[in-house]
Amino acid sequence: MAKEALDVTPPALLDRRLLVVTGKGGTGKSTVSAALALAASRKRKRVLICEVTARERVSELFGRPPSGPQIHKLFEDVYSVHVRPPEAMREYGIMVLRSETLYNLVFERRWVRYFLNAAPSLAEIVMLGKVAWHAGREMEHGRPRWDLVVLDAPATGHGLTFLSVPEVFLSIVKEGPLARDMKFMDSMLKDPQQARTCIVTLPEEMPANEAIEMHRALAQRGFPQGVLFLNGVFTPRFAPEERVQVARGGPLLAAAADAADSHEARADLSRHYTSVLRSEVKLPLVSVPYVFERTFGIRAIEQIASAIEAAL
Ligand SMILES: Nc1ncnc2c1ncn2[C@@H]1O[C@H](COP(=O)(O)OP(=O)(O)OP(=O)(O)O)[C@@H](O)[C@H]1O
Ligand SMILES: [Mg+2]
Repeated sequence: MAKEALDVTPPALLDRRLLVVTGKGGTGKSTVSAALALAASRKRKRVLICEVTARERVSELFGRPPSGPQIHKLFEDVYSVHVRPPEAMREYGIMVLRSETLYNLVFERRWVRYFLNAAPSLAEIVMLGKVAWHAGREMEHGRPRWDLVVLDAPATGHGLTFLSVPEVFLSIVKEGPLARDMKFMDSMLKDPQQARTCIVTLPEEMPANEAIEMHRALAQRGFPQGVLFLNGVFTPRFAPEERVQVARGGPLLAAAADAADSHEARADLSRHYTSVLRSEVKLPLVSVPYVFERTFGIRAIEQIASAIEAAL
């Protein structure tokens, strides 16, 4: 794994300005986003996690209350914000019009609101715009406020649509302030020096197939990719002779024998999908162990961050 990880040079994965995390629903995008942020903060980076899906999840993983639309600190050098269309729209409007009063005058009218809510992709445009602004333009004391922005992106299909919004917009509108902003976002997402998109998947058939398709679709559309995260990996625990010994324990150890068998079956699946994904996806593969924790929180994230650090 260490040798493959060398492919992500230079700069190293955590030294980009923007990391986009996507993958099938429920594969661990939020978990990996949180762990990436923690790993980067351990390298003394100041990190902002942007969540764009309906339900905020990352703050909870750090044992903190939801951040909502304001930036909140979750951990030493790790911050998060829940990017939602109404607030993103408002911030963008105020930035363009340079006045809150003007914004209220123009945009808070009911018919304008109605029109805005109905405009296709507008929500994605303003949300992505906010993320790109944090990653590429937000300054503090004369230097970028964030060393790294991690975007916990929507699941596969919607994720791809989300990232493609600037390109689609630019194919229709070529000039004007909005087109300029779209160009900024599109070139940021497609600049391998600045940004990388990472897919998260699981050692199971559907997530693995979806990851392979997503990998191809991203490549086709020109989005530079970082690493592929294979999450929830089981490593073998029992040598064959140990399993024979447990099985010999008779009825007393029957449950233990079953547990050992099912653990090894899952380890076999992990091995199988590791090799399938290695041959189909030409990116470094980072194995993230399945973490057994009764309450999945900061301890689990710390373990996963350490596994990612070791792999990178
Ligand atoms: N490495 C792991 N070990 C054990 N459980 C995990 C691991 N990674 C994630 N999980 C669990 O899997 C579930 C889904 O994780 P997570 O919320 O990160 O996925 P997601 O891809 O962000 O989901 P969604 O598509 O709903 O946003 C959670 O309950 C989480 O606790
Ligand atoms: Mg999530």
